[in-house]
Amino acid sequence: MEPVPEILIFDDPYSLAAGFAEWFHDFTSEKSIVNVALSGGSTPKLFFEILSKQYSHKIDWSKIHFFWGDERCVPPDHEESNFLMTRQNLLDRVNIPAHHIYRIHGESSPKAEAERYGDLMKHLLPQTGNFPAFDLVILGLGTDGHTASIFPGQMHLLKSDRFCEVARHPESGQQRITLTGTVINNATNICFLVAGDGKSEVVAEILNNTGNWEKYPAAYVQPNAGVPGSLRWFLDRAAAGGLRE
Ligand code: 6PG
Repeated sequence: MEPVPEILIFDDPYSLAAGFAEWFHDFTSEKSIVNVALSGGSTPKLFFEILSKQYSHKIDWSKIHFFWGDERCVPPDHEESNFLMTRQNLLDRVNIPAHHIYRIHGESSPKAEAERYGDLMKHLLPQTGNFPAFDLVILGLGTDGHTASIFPGQMHLLKSDRFCEVARHPESGQQRITLTGTVINNATNICFLVAGDGKSEVVAEILNNTGNWEKYPAAYVQPNAGVPGSLRWFLDRAAAGGLRE
């Protein structure tokens, strides 16, 4: 059964990130351990800033475990590192135990790192159907329909029976480590954070199943759990501009 996505629309990127921060707070407060896969990108950056400014004392960070949905194959102090972006905007500013932060080693050999990170997930996360099951996967969406680091034309990464794979950015050629679609869809909750009118066409195609939707990796994100509400799209008005009423 495919879950019907819940679509939440906010006025602008800031209110989207604030709305998601509130949702995240409520979500974590109901749980004793929360395993989260984080995303890179501009909206998560705003979300991290809001969390660190407004929720540093409201969230019990000791129960949160942060993993990453994807990472660029660069050292952790490189300006393109998703880990660095998260560290600067969130991790350095809240009281989260250092051993709850499981970064992808972008500086290591990509193939070996994809295996190491897959093994780490196998040992640390609860499993459903022999695959790690995150409580929450946070995703962004590219204007080309990519999500995490699964790009159009790399559909094998969606169905792979590995936990992590090495991917390549189609334009820059940059290597990335990404969770596979199999692991993403094994999560109990998946939230897309998407802002800006540059994304409105691809958002509409995916959510209305029109146009080129079949070419977009993000269109295949459907939690196996099949529970309504387990897939949420947090959009700003601009990104939601092409949706039918
Ligand atoms: C990354 C991401 C990627 C991102 C999208 C959207 O590491 O780049 O995880 O999938 O979420 O490219 O990024 P923006 O929100 O910046 O457009």
